[in-house]
Amino acid sequence: MSTQPEIKQCILITGASAGFGKLVAEKLLAKGHTVYAAARRVEKMRDIEAKGAHILHMDVTDTESVKAGVDQMLAEQGRIDVLFNNAGYGSYGTIECIPLDEIQYQYDVNVFGLARLVQAVLPQMRKQRSGRIINTASVVGHVSTAVLGWYASTKFAVEGFSDALRMEVKQFGIDVVLIEPGAVKTEFDEVAFAKLDSLDHAEDYQPLVSAFRKFTGKLYSKSPGPESTANAVIKAIEAKSPKTRYATTMDSKLLPRVKRLFSDKLFDKIVLSQMK
Ligand SMILES: NC(=O)c1ccc[n+]([C@@H]2O[C@H](COP(=O)([O-])OP(=O)(O)OC[C@H]3O[C@@H](n4cnc5c(N)ncnc54)[C@H](OP(=O)(O)O)[C@@H]3O)[C@@H](O)[C@H]2O)c1
Repeated sequence: MSTQPEIKQCILITGASAGFGKLVAEKLLAKGHTVYAAARRVEKMRDIEAKGAHILHMDVTDTESVKAGVDQMLAEQGRIDVLFNNAGYGSYGTIECIPLDEIQYQYDVNVFGLARLVQAVLPQMRKQRSGRIINTASVVGHVSTAVLGWYASTKFAVEGFSDALRMEVKQFGIDVVLIEPGAVKTEFDEVAFAKLDSLDHAEDYQPLVSAFRKFTGKLYSKSPGPESTANAVIKAIEAKSPKTRYATTMDSKLLPRVKRLFSDKLFDKIVLSQMK
């Protein structure tokens, strides 16, 4: 049953057709917030539309489509309180073998896509002198390993620009928060593994790539669902003073700390020993 929140907020969510974005949309709608749900596959958002979400067809790589979505929200609501900047995907493969156009596309979605949204909402948030931008990063924005390096590098970028943005917009009453999940069962792993399987890896890399696939496949088969991450996002939205980053799963809480205990060389050895 829908309950009225203390303060009803206008919230834009990207990547709302699946995974974290969709679950967060459902939770916010149940709390009575106004939700604009954006993604390319609008047919996958009909269920949340039926629960009250405003549906936006948005490709985060297309500046016009981002601008149109934000303009529509502002025309209809006159404000934007929260951006949950969450659309993204993983493209697994070795540094040498992922083609450059795929690397660039991954940056266009995971980094420049978030940048397009940030630049589209900030003029209004500055005008309001309030707002909250919640960027989905990852544990791999702190810890990179073999065969997911390009994906990890996009999340390192999200961490880096979010830290700078937080300092720049604090003066306008705008908060910037990072969400850092570890391995979570959504549609993410299917997409990332499909990308890996479509690559033509040089023979030399085959043993490493097969071992990575086996290790990571096992990890995802045992990984939690999106509940704890969605709950952390709700906390980040509703907290009077949110934390700067929320590690949302056990692995994302532990792995960066464990890494700091070892030298790079020892950490490499441990990771590679898991991929044998
Ligand atoms: N699941 C994990 O293990 C994990 C761990 C750490 C971080 N993350 C991050 O969490 C975020 C959400 O992932 P998820 O696990 O919820 O994955 P998911 O279930 O695959 O959902 C990804 C969402 O991103 C959207 N998206 C992808 N490309 C897009 C584009 N070009 N334009 C607009 N929307 C696009 C998809 O919508 P359409 O395809 O309909 O456009 C979908 O709604 C991503 O940033 C991901 O990198 C995930």
